[in-house]
Amino acid sequence: MTMQKRSLTGIQPSGTPHVGNWLGAIQPALSLAEAHEGFYFIASYHALTTARDASALRDRINDVACTWLALGLEPERTVLWAQQSIPEVCELSWILGCVANKSLLDKAHAFKSAQASGKKFVSVGLYTYPVLMAADILAFDSDIVPVGQDQRQHVEMARDMAQTLNHHFGEGLLKLPEPLIQENVAVVPGVDGQKMSKSYDNTIPLFVPTKKLRKRIMAIKTDSTPMEAPKDPDGCNVFRLYKLFGSPEQIADLAERYRAGGLGYGHAKQELYELMDARLAEPRERYMDLRSRPDDVQDILDSGAARARAVARATLDRVREGVGL
Ligand code: ADP
Ligand code: TRP
Repeated sequence: MTMQKRSLTGIQPSGTPHVGNWLGAIQPALSLAEAHEGFYFIASYHALTTARDASALRDRINDVACTWLALGLEPERTVLWAQQSIPEVCELSWILGCVANKSLLDKAHAFKSAQASGKKFVSVGLYTYPVLMAADILAFDSDIVPVGQDQRQHVEMARDMAQTLNHHFGEGLLKLPEPLIQENVAVVPGVDGQKMSKSYDNTIPLFVPTKKLRKRIMAIKTDSTPMEAPKDPDGCNVFRLYKLFGSPEQIADLAERYRAGGLGYGHAKQELYELMDARLAEPRERYMDLRSRPDDVQDILDSGAARARAVARATLDRVREGVGL
């Protein structure tokens, strides 16, 4: 029995993990796992609301697992699993769906934005996605759920569903989770200066070969200020990324050279590349090694699933009993 609070979060296997995912989600979750019991999973069922290529999905699940492990998740300490290994989550999802008010789901932003964009096909799964996400959180008696601002609404919906179920069937059946929105975590800019996101095609992938990394960094958009002219560091996409990787001294030094003039953007990009490449070298090596051993990675996911499933089973036994099943 641990006295530590449980931190739980999920990442969808829906694209190649990028620097934004690392600094915005994975790194903060790994720091939390130092003082909390970390329960982190790959949200494969959520990805299935849009994924239609079985082998690509399978590969992405492995990719996300390798990414967590390469970036420092210690599987003896922190539980890592793939969502589809825990059928209890789907069982709880149904039960929660039976107490959730439909009007709650009408307000969910994933569905609303899919509808607003005029999509002809919106799956039932996308519509009920917040119910599945509530089950993800509630099945494991989570205390805190570290997520980006865009997911706050979903965690609040999970609280709402837990309260409703507890109200009807017995206080304490489900533990109420708290969202943890990490305000101090930077929104990582992409190569075009907008928020880095696979939907904007502006990402810097984490584990590409060093040449490709350099090419991507050289593609960062800058303005046409001539080399000799003084430049405002904070208005520059290269510097905004540099700030996320440099030491305070390195950052101050580069800022000074921007302001002094005589520094070309090409040079600044080269410095950013060297910094990022050095920082990513070790994780990249671990990642490549893990990617070459899919069976070992699967073993880690399976043993994580066994630990997580025991918790979910106990919750489901309690909830089934509580609702009269
Ligand atoms: P994407 O926007 O590329 O589709 P996801 O929505 O799958 O990324 O994000 C997974 C996690 O990574 C979320 O917790 C999200 O908040 C975080 N994240 C994604 N992009 C960024 C970014 N540019 N800056 C900070 N955090 C990010
Ligand atoms: N919906 C989240 C996202 O798109 C992923 C997710 C699924 C999740 N289930 C979760 C996050 C449970 C936190 C807790 O980013």
